[in-house]
Parts: sequence; C-alpha cells; structure tokens
Amino acid sequence: MSQNDPSLPPVHQRRPRYSGKNPRNFNQKYKEHGQDPATLAKVLASGKTPAGTHRPIMVSEILEILGPKPGEIAIDCTLGHGGHSLELLPRLQPHGKLLGLDADPLEFAKTSARIANLGFGPDIAQLVRTNFASLTKTHTESGLPPANLLLADLGVSSMQLDNPTRGFSTKTDGPLDMRMNPNKGEPASALIQRLPPAELSALLEENADEPRASLISNTLAGKAFASTKHLATAIKSLLRSLNEEEIELTLRRVFQAIRIAVNDEFGALDNLLRQIPLCTAPNARIAILSFHSGEDRRVKSALETGLSLGTYQSISPSPLRPSAQERSANLRSAPARLRWAIRSGNAA
Ligand SMILES: C[S@@+](CC[C@H](N)C(=O)[O-])C[C@H]1O[C@@H](n2cnc3c(N)ncnc32)[C@H](O)[C@@H]1O
Repeated sequence: MSQNDPSLPPVHQRRPRYSGKNPRNFNQKYKEHGQDPATLAKVLASGKTPAGTHRPIMVSEILEILGPKPGEIAIDCTLGHGGHSLELLPRLQPHGKLLGLDADPLEFAKTSARIANLGFGPDIAQLVRTNFASLTKTHTESGLPPANLLLADLGVSSMQLDNPTRGFSTKTDGPLDMRMNPNKGEPASALIQRLPPAELSALLEENADEPRASLISNTLAGKAFASTKHLATAIKSLLRSLNEEEIELTLRRVFQAIRIAVNDEFGALDNLLRQIPLCTAPNARIAILSFHSGEDRRVKSALETGLSLGTYQSISPSPLRPSAQERSANLRSAPARLRWAIRSGNAA
C-alpha cells in the first residue's frame, strides 16, 4: 500500500519539536507564522517583530506628512509587507489609486495576495514587482496621472532579515546571499570572493563607515564563505580585543555594507531621488524613511538641491525620529530618520 494512494486519508505528521521553552529559529516559530493572537501579543509586547511580518514605522508621522485624501494618487516605492500601503489605501477611497513597487519576488507575491484579499484589487492597488530605480518607466506604464503623494521606506523588511534562507542575518545561519531579488545579480558570497582587499575595504568604509575596514577586508577578500555563520565567525575572530557590544555592532556594519553593495542600494536610491520629480504632481507630498547615514546623506542632499532649484517648495529642516514610545515598542524603528518634501505648486 502506497502512502500516495489518493483513496487513503492524508497521513498526519507531527510538527518537529523544538528543544527548550521557546522556539528559537524562524521555521519553529509556527505560532507566529500562523498568526496565533496570544503569541503575537507576547512578541509585540517585547518590542520584537513576529516572524514573517513587518511592523510599519512612523505611521502617524508619515500619514500627517502625506495627508492622503479621497481620489488622490499615491506611490509606495517599497511595498514590503504592505504596512504603509494598507494605511494609505482606505484614506484614498473613493476613487483614489496606489501604485506599489517592490524588488523582492518572494515577499511581493505574498503581500499582493494579502492586499487583494483585503478588498484592494488591481483597479485600486496596482502592484508591480520591480526595482524603484526605474520608477519613471513603471509609473508611465501604469497609465496613472502624476502622484499626489509618494513614500519610500528604504532598506530591508523584517521578513527578509529574519528569514535565514535569505542570508541577511548575522544571528541565524543560512546561505550567504543577501539579494532582495534572488533571481538577479551576484550573491554576497560571490562578491566577497571576487573583490580584491582594497575594493572590499573601500566598500566597507563607504557603505557603513566601518573603522576596521582594512583589517577586515584583508582577511575576507577573495575567500569563499558559503554561509552567514561562516562569515560572522571569520569577522569575530579578528575582533577578540573588543567587547561583545562592539563585536555585534561591527558585524552589523559589515553585513549592512555588503548587503548595500549586493543590491546596489545607493545606485537605486540616487536613481529614485532623480525620478521623484518626474512622477509627482504640483504640491505633491513626499516622505522618505532611511535607516543609516549613507542613505540619509543622499536623501538630504537631493532634497536640498531640489529646494534650491525650485523643484520643491519646502523640505524638512532636519530628519524626524521615531518617538521614544515607538522606539521601545518596536526596537527596529530606532535608527529611522524621516525626511519630507513638498513639490512646487508650478511643477511641470
Ligand atoms: C523597510 S521595507 C518596507 C516596509 C513597508 N513600508 C511596510 O510597512 O510593510 C523595504 C522594502 O523595500 C524593498 N526594496 C528595497 N530596495 C528596493 C528597490 N531598489 N526597489 C524596489 N524595492 C526595494 C525591499 O524589498 C523591502 O520589501
């Protein structure tokens, strides 16, 4: 008798048990993946993000800046889990539309399905799996008029960070990949193996202001690291004189710098900042959330240039930060910096 016999009832398989009191790895957190309310409440109360989800950051501040109104057109350049889009969509109704972009094919499919299931079909939410570096092309192809509001929430989502198979995490072991779109470009392992020490060192300095860039790159460059743990162990072995906090910060900076290079994040951001004026209407409101100084410097400089050229009528004098309450309720919000701009009234 075969277990594949369709006339037989399916064989019940027990979930693999985890050792200890709490699940430790991403796959074992099945109660979080299954959205068990009690488990979700416990995780949220600890300031953490339930596995497989993302908590939108500075929502009330972003809604105040963007001021979505019925009938307006919005662009969300970084759909992610759809957290911000789902705040915008009801406020644009009736008759408003949202164009949502994301480069990640894995999370994009899940988010698109979730948004459609909540009643925002393609007539209201046009969702496109694409890089925001080609915003103008995507906006033109959508057939939508210039946007009244635009949001970019930069970097990676919690779903990407927490899923060890994506290779972003310094804590859990997984293949050393880090691509937001795993169908495109080279994984982090190939980049480290290909780069000479001087280039890797420049990358660590430019992308994460890493003070030990040259020491670290001399050891890593040209080597084959198959997994995140393998890379993390090699970095840690160079930092024996540092305390745990400094080691953790260095690891995070090195992983961040490599992730930025793998995904050409600065190139994509520069393209986005150049194209925002081409896709937005007179008096459009723009909000950009960044998570490290390399991003924020670019956003600040593009908005200041736009102000001096008359592209923008006003810009945020300084970045807004999450409230103390949000920082403690959502630990991942801590580094966020929010800048805004208002398009000129006579924008072409
Ligand atoms: C911080 S998350 C956005 C979270 C979202 N605002 C929410 O509340 O659910 C950033 C998202 O931007 C996407 N992303 C990053 N760079 C991108 C790019 N150049 N083009 C398109 N999407 C990008 C990532 O794949 C990720 O899903």
